Amino acid sequence: MREEIINCKNQALAQIMSSSDSNELEGIRIAYLGKSGKLTSLIKGIKDVPEEDRGQIGILINQAKNTVIEEIANKKNSLSISSRKWFDPTIPGIKPKVGHLHLVTSAIREISDVFEKIGFVRVRYPEVEWDYYAFGGLNFPVNHPARDDWETFFVDTIENSKYGPMLLTPHTSSGQLREMERAKPPIRMINIAKCYRRQSDVSHTQMFHQFEGLVIDKGISIVNLKGTLDYFAKNFFGNNRVARIRPYHFQFTEPSFEVDISCDICQGKGCRLCKEGWLEIGGAGMVHPTVLKNGGIDPNKYSGFAFGWGVERVLMMKSGLNIADLRLLYSTDLRFLKQF
Ligand code: PHE
Repeated sequence: MREEIINCKNQALAQIMSSSDSNELEGIRIAYLGKSGKLTSLIKGIKDVPEEDRGQIGILINQAKNTVIEEIANKKNSLSISSRKWFDPTIPGIKPKVGHLHLVTSAIREISDVFEKIGFVRVRYPEVEWDYYAFGGLNFPVNHPARDDWETFFVDTIENSKYGPMLLTPHTSSGQLREMERAKPPIRMINIAKCYRRQSDVSHTQMFHQFEGLVIDKGISIVNLKGTLDYFAKNFFGNNRVARIRPYHFQFTEPSFEVDISCDICQGKGCRLCKEGWLEIGGAGMVHPTVLKNGGIDPNKYSGFAFGWGVERVLMMKSGLNIADLRLLYSTDLRFLKQF
């Protein structure tokens, strides 16, 4: 009897599994659980089972009956789901997340565009560089304290007898001699690259970006420098902005200047925000004759100008963003970066 019940149940389950519509299922239900169904007649036979086995057999047959009922119901359910057409065109799609350029990357692209329009060639030079390109060749005498102004990271490696120790470029001016070695005048370079200095606080990151302009040709004068600075002021910051130059000192330019851009709010008159009407942006000057010579260019035939500033600095000035801690820009914190 025990075996009969199990076989009967298994047969029923196999048929349920291979059935493909609800009519067929109903047929199976009748064949097993109908008035003269196979399971029903087994149930009827319980009375002939010896008394001591009857309880056990009763439980077994009840379980078989319940399983068959349950499986028929499950199968009915799954048949009706799979035959339903699940297409609802009004359900909103799952939109893939769209990223965007980092603030600094878009500023770099914008700066390149502005200068490429007037024929500057965009370049990049090594970030791990010899002292010669960053300092020595730029007219810094050996051990001159002016090197200290750049808070340089030196690389712990063997010095080169000609080029000196290795360092991480503290400014893009290291590209000036590289460019003179790469190209003959006329030169119009825009070098945008990472720079490194030993400083970290709310307005400084140890890694930042600078862009450096270098123009060398016959008859280049301060007038060309000033014109280029004004062009940048108008095209990057806005039509109403101009540049101003003030005397300063750099080893590699003579004369040297600091460059300011007129304040957007008071147009250079002076207001509560800028105080004096001008916002400082960086250094510039006429390329020093010694630097030209080091680059293999005859200073009696050619002259040139150079300027260099922080990308992050002009980005803050232009956008009016007041980022409380500049280090956030490089924190890779998406909550911060998503805002822009
Ligand atoms: N490299 C200088 C700095 O980082 C700026 C500069 C560039 C000055 C070009 C003169 C000419 O401060």
